[in-house]
Amino acid sequence: DGGGALAGLSVLVSAGPTYEDIDPVRFIGNRSSGRMGFAIAEAAAAQGAAVTLVAGPVHLPTPPGVAERIDVRSAREMREAVHAAAAHCDIFVSAAAVGDYRPAEVSTHKLKKSGDAGLALALVQNPDILAEIAALPRRPFLVGFAAETRDVDAYARGKLAAKGVDMIAANRVGDGAGFESERNALHLYWPGGDVALAEAPKRELADALLARVAERYRRTRTE
Ligand code: PMT
Repeated sequence: DGGGALAGLSVLVSAGPTYEDIDPVRFIGNRSSGRMGFAIAEAAAAQGAAVTLVAGPVHLPTPPGVAERIDVRSAREMREAVHAAAAHCDIFVSAAAVGDYRPAEVSTHKLKKSGDAGLALALVQNPDILAEIAALPRRPFLVGFAAETRDVDAYARGKLAAKGVDMIAANRVGDGAGFESERNALHLYWPGGDVALAEAPKRELADALLARVAERYRRTRTE
């Protein structure tokens, strides 16, 4: 006890997808399984951190050592849970695949087929949780993810600047990469540097990610 690169630190991790309800039986979701975020939460706890895990709708047991788990469904529920926990944590790793849009209205009854006419669903944008936390006057060290199907490098560097975070962990998704897999590869970007973390099981990759996070965290706190 007491050892580990994250000993004495409080780490918040978000994981999984969000579900945005359309009606009582349908929703808009995405392919995130939660595995990447859960692996990071487990690795952070093993490194001595006090871990809070905010989880979207996933089918995963709470990893050993995780002090607190908060289950949410929608992006707005996730926003509330993240804001509450971010107020008293040192590091926030935003691995959740937060839905960018939700239906403008949730129907109280099941939508019916309308004959041959199609159905147009009006969507409104969800809040960008990570950008909101980045804008707080006193905020934790922030690690954002970037899930891209192409031009990973350019988009990741763009997100590092646009979102005002301390690090971006970028992964290529689609074609069985990133989502729904036990393995992943990440490329990390921070102001002034970057490093590729080779493909590995997510739990192993989480250790490599957190080693870099701990190093950058200590550096930004002493600069
Ligand atoms: O869950 P797995 O099956 O293991 O898959 C892992 C993963 C591919 C989901 C994960 O590695 C990953 O990339 N997570 C982030 C997915 C994502 O939504 O990326 P993005 O590029 O759309 O978002 C960028 C960042 O902003 C992310 O840190 C995201 O959490 C955050 N965000 C996005 C939208 C929003 N409304 N609020 C946010 O906070």
